[in-house]
Amino acid sequence: MTDIAALSGSVEHWKGDALLVLAGEEDCEKCDVPSPYGEYVRALAQRGDFEGKKGSLVRVPLFEGGVKNLYAAGLGKAGECTPAALRDALTAALRKIGRERNRSVLALIGAAGPETDVILGEAVGLCGYVFDKYKKKEKEDSFVLERVFAKGINAEKTSLGLAFADAQCFARDLSNEPGNVINPLTLADAAARLAKESGLTCEVWDEERLERERMGALLAVGRGSRTPPRLIHLAYVPEEAPKGAPRKKAVLVGKGLTFDSGGLDLKTPDFMKTMKGDKSAACGVLGVLKGVAALKPRTEVHGIVPAAENMPDGGAFRPDDIIRARNGKTIEVDNTDAEGRLVLADALSLASGMKPDVLIEMSTLTGACAVALGNWTAGLFTKDEGLCQALLDAAGRRGERLWRLPMDDERIGETLKSKFADLVNGASRYGGAVFAAMFLNEFVEKGVSWAHIDIAGADFMKEESGVYTQGASAWGVRTCLDYVLSL
Ligand code: BES
Ligand code: MN
Ligand code: ZN
Repeated sequence: MTDIAALSGSVEHWKGDALLVLAGEEDCEKCDVPSPYGEYVRALAQRGDFEGKKGSLVRVPLFEGGVKNLYAAGLGKAGECTPAALRDALTAALRKIGRERNRSVLALIGAAGPETDVILGEAVGLCGYVFDKYKKKEKEDSFVLERVFAKGINAEKTSLGLAFADAQCFARDLSNEPGNVINPLTLADAAARLAKESGLTCEVWDEERLERERMGALLAVGRGSRTPPRLIHLAYVPEEAPKGAPRKKAVLVGKGLTFDSGGLDLKTPDFMKTMKGDKSAACGVLGVLKGVAALKPRTEVHGIVPAAENMPDGGAFRPDDIIRARNGKTIEVDNTDAEGRLVLADALSLASGMKPDVLIEMSTLTGACAVALGNWTAGLFTKDEGLCQALLDAAGRRGERLWRLPMDDERIGETLKSKFADLVNGASRYGGAVFAAMFLNEFVEKGVSWAHIDIAGADFMKEESGVYTQGASAWGVRTCLDYVLSL
C-alpha cells in the first residue's frame, strides 16, 4: 500500500527515486518547477519530447542530484484540464512510476483546485490496484511505490481520498473473484467479515427466512443453483444523535448475481464470459458501507443485497412460470435471463418498507444500457429531480461518468403488462434499459424518493486506463459514497 507524506523542506533538496511533474499544454513552457528540474522540463518541451498533451507521459533518467528519474505527465489544453483528467493522469503516472521500480516519488501538481488533495488521495489509493492473487508474481509487473510526497497538502483531504479509493479497491477485489469462489453464501460471509472488522451490523436471511418473508422472486431465481440464495443486510447507525436536524436514512441496494448464466434461457459464450461481474453492484454497495464505516457520516446507511446464482438445472425456474414477489405482485417469466429485475423486485419492496429518506439501487441490469451509453458511462433513472441532480453532481466530483435516461415512457409502460400475471419480466429489445427501470419502479412503495443506476458496461473494463485497471471497475462506489457524505 502506498501512502502520502507532506514534503518538508524544498523541492531542490528532496532525495528519492522519482519526481513527477504534471503540466498542461499551455503552461508547460513556463511551468514553475524549481531548478534544476524546471530546466529539464523546459528542455523536453523545446525538443518537442513533452508538450503537455493529454495522456502523454515521459521519463527522463537523471544522472546527478538526489533524484533518479524525472517523469512528466500531460494534462492537455486548458479546457481539458479537468479534475477528472487530473485524477486519471495522476493515477496512470503513479502506476507507471511504481512499476518502474521507484519506491518514492515527489509529485508536483500544477493545476491546483479545492479538490486537488482529495484527488491526490484517490490516485495514490488506486494506482497500485491489481487483482493478481491467483498469479505467480511476475517481477517486471510488480509495483513497488511506497510513498508519494507532495507540497502543502491537507491531510484531512488526502485521507478522504484514500478512503474513497480503499472502498473502491475492496469492491474490486470482491467483484473480481470468480463464481467458483464467490457464491451467495461466500458473499454473505464476506459481508459478515466486513461488518465485524469495521463495526457495522450484518444480518443474513437464509432460504427459510426468505420463504417467511415472501421473497418469491429471489427464491425463484436461485432455484437452479447448488448454492441457495441469500439476502444480506448491512447497516451503519451513527452513535450520537445530531443536534437540530433529524438524522437521515439512506438505503442502498445492489444486485448480487454471483454468476449469471442466463438460466434455462442460457447465454451464448460471448455473453456469458465476464458474468462473474453480475455481482459488482452488490460488491459496490459493500464497498460504500466500508467507506461509510471509516468516514462515519451523520446519515444512517443501510446496504441490501439480494444474492443468487442464475443457473440452468432440473430445479431451475422456467419461462412461463408465474412467481409472486414480496409486495404481492405476480410476474410472468418471459426470459430467465432477465433475472436481475426479479431479485431486485423483492429487495426494493423490502428496502422501501424501511422508510428511507432516499433509496439508491445499482445493478448490472441490461445489455441495452451498455449499448446505449458504452462501456464507461452508467445510466441514471429517477423521477426525483433533486436526487437526479445530486447524484449527477456527486458523479461529477468523483469523475465517474453518469448519464440520465428516461423512465416515464408511457408506451413502454404498457408493455410491462402480462396476459396471465400483473407484470412480465421481459419485452422487446428496444428501450430495454427503460423497460427494466420501469419494471423496478413497480416494486418501490409510492412516495419513496429513489434512483436506479444501471452499471452494465461500466462495471467491467477491458483495458487499463486512468483510474481503471482491467476487470472490475467498482464504478459507483465513490459516487455513492460522496453522495451519502453530502446528505
Ligand atoms: N446481467 C445481465 C445484463 C448485463 C449484460 C450486464 C452485459 C453486464 C453486461 C442481465 O441479467 C441480462 O441478462 N439482461 C438481459 C435482459 C433481457 C433478457 C430482457 C439483457 O440485457 O440481454
Ligand atoms: Mn441475466
Ligand atoms: Zn444478470
